[in-house]
Amino acid sequence: MVEDLRLDSLEGVGPVTTRKLSDAGVHNVMDLIVRGPVEISEITGMEKDTAEKIVNKARQHLVEGGLISKDFVSASEIYKHRQSIGKITTGTNCLDTLFDGGIETQALTEVYGEFGCGKTQFAHTMSVMVQKSKEEGGLEGGVLYIDTENTFRPERIVSIAQAHEMDPEKVLDSIIVARAYNSAHQTLILEEAGAIIEEHNVKLIVADSAVGLFRAEYLGRGTLSVRQQKLNHFVHLLSRIAETYNCAAIATNQVMASPDVFFGDPTRPIGGNVVAHTSTYRIYFKKSGKKRIARMVDSPHHPEEEVIFALGEAGVIDPEEAEKKTKKATAKKATAKKTKDTTVEAPEVEPTVEAPEVKVVAEPMVDPESDYEPIEE
Ligand SMILES: Nc1ncnc2c1ncn2[C@@H]1O[C@H](COP(=O)(O)OP(=O)(O)O)[C@@H](O)[C@H]1O
Ligand SMILES: [Mg+2]
Repeated sequence: MVEDLRLDSLEGVGPVTTRKLSDAGVHNVMDLIVRGPVEISEITGMEKDTAEKIVNKARQHLVEGGLISKDFVSASEIYKHRQSIGKITTGTNCLDTLFDGGIETQALTEVYGEFGCGKTQFAHTMSVMVQKSKEEGGLEGGVLYIDTENTFRPERIVSIAQAHEMDPEKVLDSIIVARAYNSAHQTLILEEAGAIIEEHNVKLIVADSAVGLFRAEYLGRGTLSVRQQKLNHFVHLLSRIAETYNCAAIATNQVMASPDVFFGDPTRPIGGNVVAHTSTYRIYFKKSGKKRIARMVDSPHHPEEEVIFALGEAGVIDPEEAEKKTKKATAKKATAKKTKDTTVEAPEVEPTVEAPEVKVVAEPMVDPESDYEPIEE
């Protein structure tokens, strides 16, 4: 960063205020913007007016440094700012088509789907792909991986890196894993993330799962509004960080079956529309036999479409890759059989059985009008 981001580089912010702020986890000028005046005043005990002044100064400082855009901008300036949006390839043709090149920085991409549909595999794959060179579709950046379900596996990172001919050790070194033990801790990690993002040139933040701990802790109808409020805070923080630091953010969200739904797909995102409203892109993953379907559900500028992908050693892969692998394996088996049993003709190698194409017909059950989805636990 060219601009000085130290808190005391702001006019009128002396050692006392700097101390107060850093005690509350606000370590640089970016953090001030990310947290906003209301929160700053809450966590430091500072007068609201003072907090507002400081945050405004921070904003001005960053505008002057060209790090964030002004309050009033022309469409052409927005257009220019959007040119600085980076894209991270998924390493597959199918998903890159769906994302129109890859997942974007300055945006929150929500991936939702049922257990085992590949959300974590996708997050692992993107944690490797973001480290690729720009020519190869990456951003040469690091990763902050918030793991709330203890499903982060370095072994998977190693095999994905190897499949992409990258140095596994280097790739592992650039992924900072934060294991979150409860929802408050999960939020705290993000609140304190500024320094790590700077230090490790983080270009991708993963929250896998973004919703799980909140769901586990706030059970029952009585606590739903508190849960949504807290989750709302987390998700907004994530998207503000993505915007401010120009990095990509992936939030995963599990879906549950709703037996009361008779038409269409009986699953709905657990975060309800708190997550839906904040995420810039929403992707729905669905199992279809051995394959997976990814569907772009909500996007400001993508058509609603779906593609078929697969999961393999290399993480998310193109379905043709998976077919090649199965064909090889089948051929191997046949050869083995042939050498074992010499008297009988080996059968012709069967073409791989195709999973039937399943169309996802239903919209996810998100009501854009209500504050939250009352979900029976
Ligand atoms: N090494 C691997 N090779 C091929 N497929 C794998 C591998 N590891 C995991 N998978 C696939 O990923 C699925 C789990 O996906 P995951 O991303 O953990 O789901 P979730 O959406 O619950 O996070 C498994 O069912 C399996 O099909
Ligand atoms: Mg998972």
